[in-house]
This record gives sequence, structure tokens and C-alpha cells, in this order.
Amino acid sequence: MKINNVVVIGSGTMGSGIAAHLCNANVPVTLLDLTTEISQKAKERIGKSRPPLLIDKSKLDNIHVGNIEENFDVVSNADWIVEAVVERIDIKHNIYEKIFKHRKKESVVSSNTSSIPISVLSEKLSDQDKKDFCITHFFNPVRYMDLLEIVKSNESDLDKVKLLKDFCEIDLGKGAIICNDTPGFLGNRIGVYAMQIAMTEAFNMKLSVEEADAVFGRPMGIPKTGVFGLYDLIGIDLMADVLKSFIKELPESDPFQPVAREMPLVKKLIETGYTGRKGKGGFYRMNKEGGKKILEAINLETGEYSPSKKIDIKSERVDLKKLINRGDKYGDYAWSVISKIITYSSSLVPGITDKFNDIDEAMRLGFNWSRGPFEMLKEIGVNNFFQKIDNFEGNKFLENLSKSKDENFYGERQQYTEIETLGKIKPRALKLDKNNSAEIYRFPEFNIVEFTTKANALDYDSMDSLKNATDKPLIIINESMQFSAGVNLTYTMNFADKGDYKSIEKFVGYFQETCKHLKYSKFPVVSAPSGLTLGGGFEVLVQSNFVASHTNIVVGLVETLVGLVPAGGGCKEMLWRWSQTDEAKNDPDFAPLKVFDIIGYAKTATSPVEAEPLKYLIPENKKIMSRNSLLNEARKILDQNKEFTPPKECTFNLSGKSLKDKMVGMLEKLYNDKIILDHGMMVGTELANVLSGGDTTIDKTLTEDELFKLELDAFMKLIETSKTQDRIKHTLSTGKPLVN
Ligand code: NAI
Repeated sequence: MKINNVVVIGSGTMGSGIAAHLCNANVPVTLLDLTTEISQKAKERIGKSRPPLLIDKSKLDNIHVGNIEENFDVVSNADWIVEAVVERIDIKHNIYEKIFKHRKKESVVSSNTSSIPISVLSEKLSDQDKKDFCITHFFNPVRYMDLLEIVKSNESDLDKVKLLKDFCEIDLGKGAIICNDTPGFLGNRIGVYAMQIAMTEAFNMKLSVEEADAVFGRPMGIPKTGVFGLYDLIGIDLMADVLKSFIKELPESDPFQPVAREMPLVKKLIETGYTGRKGKGGFYRMNKEGGKKILEAINLETGEYSPSKKIDIKSERVDLKKLINRGDKYGDYAWSVISKIITYSSSLVPGITDKFNDIDEAMRLGFNWSRGPFEMLKEIGVNNFFQKIDNFEGNKFLENLSKSKDENFYGERQQYTEIETLGKIKPRALKLDKNNSAEIYRFPEFNIVEFTTKANALDYDSMDSLKNATDKPLIIINESMQFSAGVNLTYTMNFADKGDYKSIEKFVGYFQETCKHLKYSKFPVVSAPSGLTLGGGFEVLVQSNFVASHTNIVVGLVETLVGLVPAGGGCKEMLWRWSQTDEAKNDPDFAPLKVFDIIGYAKTATSPVEAEPLKYLIPENKKIMSRNSLLNEARKILDQNKEFTPPKECTFNLSGKSLKDKMVGMLEKLYNDKIILDHGMMVGTELANVLSGGDTTIDKTLTEDELFKLELDAFMKLIETSKTQDRIKHTLSTGKPLVN
């Protein structure tokens, strides 16, 4: 059987997210709820969702809606029926009775429950029906969260579970991990425990909310939201419900029990409406008194709020060994939290899974950790860990490891999937060359470059790695969330602060040289982006010979927001792409004006489908739902292009002054309407100068190098202004653009 038709029952947060994602995979789907009005509203919410749940909004009408009274016959045609109604067992049981009466016998039925054991969900099913039932636990938001836990029972038909897993993995692009029927499965069991430990230890060790978040965040390879920030994001009341469910389901002796108990401060927050970001605030709140917004944090001892303090624990990159041995309160806190997470996770092997690797991967996929507990153990080092840890009695996994002291206990990554992923092949590289910003994995047939900085921001070293990796076909790809958020602005500002503009010019020049080298080198270069692919990140992509893009990308040239213009070939490549259109053949100003609009407004696209009309991507670029498959797809491209010849250099004929005047006229209108201010006018004028070709005329042919020169000159002029520097500083400290 193939899954060609799906019915989702329950159109709330999860049901609508699952339906939207099926629509993304071009699978016909019907969304049913108590009334058609409810499911219709859900559909409208999908259309308006931010970040968008749909890759292509025009496909919204491929989602059909209905109600469970009049439209239930759709179930008889479905290959897969997903139940995503409220977490109430009586309601779920009633729905199953109906589903199993109507469904065709080849179909598979699953529940999206987050906490009810499969044994309880399926207790009223016949033995035959139990074979076709399992849990598919998606995470919210479904399009963006890669983890899918599939829970089977002893009765489940394993072939069917495998078929569903393959569908979810390849067609829906999820990291599908098969789990046992244990409370919270893998992700939430460890993830929520980790949050509770991070919180309890902050109370015990008298760390402030901001201090705990500064440690239990990037320095540990955990998203920067930290623990208290994440609590606020999820909802403090929802977390309380989740904890109650763990208390109910877990045995009393489970070490989770003592840290799951309600704390007086948390109880008070919920009772007073401080349920997190959706409520009046939570551990953090925005105080709007006196017309100014001030971020405040709660004092864990007194419950009083005061202005939040920025804590910098001076940890540039994840280095767990260094972190836990700092010898200060942050190091002690980190060790206490990490050692407890490792101890708890390992105590659950083989109880919740016999593959400890699955726990790590669940934490990567479901909680965006850059490494799971066992990888943390590996990184700290087995001997180091046992020198520091005092109590692991009864923990079979640690007892065995303490005897073998095997530093190489880990084995292969990503064992849950048969796909040959980046995580799996990296350790098999012939050679690894690395610098501070990137790693080159050298294989016999090709090289891989993976950027390794925060948000993969690019600097001189990133470019150096790219340049040094073109002695063979090259794939630029990464495991972390973002392909690249663009040029490293902190790095650039460090030079600007010292007035060292020569170094900035040298860097941008090297950036251009490298991108040109990527484009014209003897061997093909493939970029395989996912996540943020902005500014300089896009310039790397656009000057690669081939692209295999994940469907979750945010792509665009956003330099103007920080008072700059694209200077790594972004203006040049966009001009070239637009100059190849039919409209451009008749009107030489068509392409520059289009690009002026796109770059001037810093337009971004949130999927390949949105990126094509802007020409950030082109139809030849591959679009792939499964992030795990990106490497395979990139390798396929290399295989198909063994006889590669580099492209011909492009040339440009641009109108010069008359076109620039036209563009400046457009800027003046925006200036008069107060849409842009003084510096906006200046940035726009510099962009106009680049895109009109500078001091040129239409009959003069410009080379790529001449375009690069225009980009560089404009960039240097702008970076030296205090207003561009103000914009950059503002964006670095707030994450938002400054209009000046
Ligand atoms: P929700 O409250 O947003 O939506 C539930 C929907 O079910 C509502 O639209 C409601 O009208 C509908 N419903 C209630 N009774 C029904 C019936 N008899 N027939 C048809 N529809 C009915 O809930 P949410 O958050 O979408 O959760 C759904 C399931 O997914 C629950 O089992 C929950 O535990 C689980 N889950 C939730 C996650 C989350 O982050 N919200 C994450 C993972 C799992």
C-alpha cells in the first residue's frame, strides 16, 4: 500500500499543522472536527500562520475540511487516519470506535497523543485492529520541527509501521524514530527532565534566571532561549500539566518525580496570570510603564521583577570540558545539570530504548540541541566523567562504561535512519581540516565544507575553508539549523571600532575572490542549504554551480537593513538572473529596477516556492523535503555532472546615470513620504549606483570584476558611516533593524 490519501481528525494546533504539512508533500488531506466551522477556521489559520506552515500558500485549497457527523465517509477512502483531538481518553476512544467501523482494512490509524500510553489508547480495539494502530507524535510547529516519534505496541504490524515511517521520513521529511510505549517517549522524557533539572539547580545554587539561561543555552549547545525563556515560550501552565502527567505515569522511585513537583513560585505565577509570553509574562516580562518597554526578569527568591541583566559568561563556542571545569558558579551549575542529564538518560537504557543513540537524535531533532546527553558524555571524555561523578549506583550503562572506560563507546550517529546522512559520513572522512569557522571533510570523490560559527556567520576563515576545498567537487552543507545568517557583523564591527577599514576591505575582497573561485573552479560546487540563507550566505549559494535546497529555508539579501549593500556578488548575480528574462531583452532597465526593488526592500522568501519568483532560486535548483536526504541529493548532482565545465563569465550592459536618476527619484518619493530617513536615502543611492553600473553607458560592456568593484566601493563607503555602524550595533544587540 502507498499513502495517497489522509484524513486528520481534530483541527487544533497539531491537527492543522499535520494537515498543512501533508499539503506541503502534495498528499490529498481532509481535516475533520466537531463542526465544519471549526475546521474551516483552522484552515484559515493555516493560511495566515507565521512562520508559515505552508511551503506554497496557493495550495491551501488542497486541504479539504468537514465535520465528523456528515463527512465521516472520507475515512473509508483514507490510507492513513491521524487522530489529533484533545488529550482526553474518552473522546479518543469514541473516535476510534467510529474510525475502525469506517476505515478500509489496509489503512493505518495513528494518534498524535503526547502522553497517553498506546496500551490505554488501544485497549478497546480488537486484536486485528490493534495491528494497524500506532502513535505518531509530531512536534509543534509540524513543518519546522523535525522529530516524529512513532510508538508501536507489541501487537503492531511491523510492516505497516515501517511503511508509515518511510512515508514520514521521505515524503514528509521527518526524522522518524521508533519508540517504546513509555511515558513521554524519548524527546519529552529527557527534554522535560533536563528543563526541570536546569530550573531546580538554578534555585538550589542560587543562580538568577538570566545566569541560568546564559549557561543552559548556547555554551551547552542548547538553543539560546535557555530554560526559563523556554518555559515562558511553551507556557508555564502547559508545562504544569505536562509535569502532572509525568508524576501520574512514572513510578514513584523515578528520579524525575522529585524535580517534577510543583514549586511555590510557579504555582503563584500561574494563579496570577503569569503563564508566560501568551499571558502577562512569566520568568521574564515586558514592562511597558512610562511608554518605554523594559525587559524584566523575576528574582527566584523574592518573586519581584527587576530589569533583566545581560549575562556574558565569555564562552564563544561550545566546549563542555572547559565549561564544567571553569571553577566558578557557572561551571559548577553546568556540571551539575549536565551530569544529572547524562546520569538520568543512561539509567533509562535499555528501558525506554535499547539504542542510546536514539535519545541523542531525539534531543537534536525535537529540542534543537546540537548534541544529546551521550554525545556530551563522549565530548567530556569517559575518564574525565568518571573522575568527577560520584554516584551512579544501579545505573547499568554507567557501571559497564566505568569498567570498560571505552572512550570510543559511541559508534555511528543517526542510527534511526537508513539514509546516508551528513552526521553518519563525517566520521568516515579521509581527513578533516578545520579552522575557527569551518571544517573541511575530505573524501576520495569530493569534499564537504561545514560552517561552524554561531548561526554560521561568515568571516575570513569561512572563506579560506571554501577556497581550500575546491581541489575536488565540493558540497557546502551543515548539520546545524542555519546554512548561514550572512557575514559575521560582530567580526566586521570589531575592525570598524578600531577604525581598521583596510582589514574590512581585505575581507570583502577575499569574500568576492572566493565566491568567484567557487563559480569558476574546475570542479562543480553544490550548496545544500536549509534554514537561514541570508546575505553572504545567499551569495555563497548563488555562486555555487548547483543547489539542492531544503524546503525550509529563509533566503534573501537583507544587507540594506543594516545600512549596507550586498558586496560578495549578490547584486551582480541578481542582475544577471533578471537580465536573462524576456522583459529584460526589451528593456535594459527592467532587470536593474527589479533588483533595486528586491534588494532595496531586503525581500526574503520563506520557502523555495516563494524564492523562485524573486529569482533567489531558479527552477533548476532541487527542492527537498527531507533534510536528512540533502547530502544524498547533492551527491547525486555530482554523480550526474562528472563531465563538468564551469560556466561562461557573465557581462553586463547598464544604463548608468539616467537609470541611477530614475532610482534616486523613487527614493526621493519614499523620503518625502517619510518611509525612509536620511540614511535610508544614502544606502538606497549607493545601491542605485551599483545596479545602474556606476559611471557607464548602455553600449559599454561591464565585466563581473567591474561589478564586484562597484559593490566593494559602495560597501566601504557605507561601513565607514556612523549611521551604518549604528544600524549594525542595534541589530546585533536587539536582533531588529534600526530605521535612521
Ligand atoms: P487543540 O486543543 O489545539 O485541538 C484539539 C481539537 O480537537 C479542537 O479543534 C477540538 O475542537 C477537536 N475535537 C475535540 N473533540 C473532538 C471530536 N470528538 N472529534 C473531532 N474533533 C474533536 O489540541 P492540540 O494541541 O492540537 O492537541 C491535539 C493532540 O496532540 C493531543 O492529543 C495532544 O496531547 C497532542 N499533542 C499536542 C502538542 C502541542 O504542542 N499542542 C504536541 C504534541 C502532541
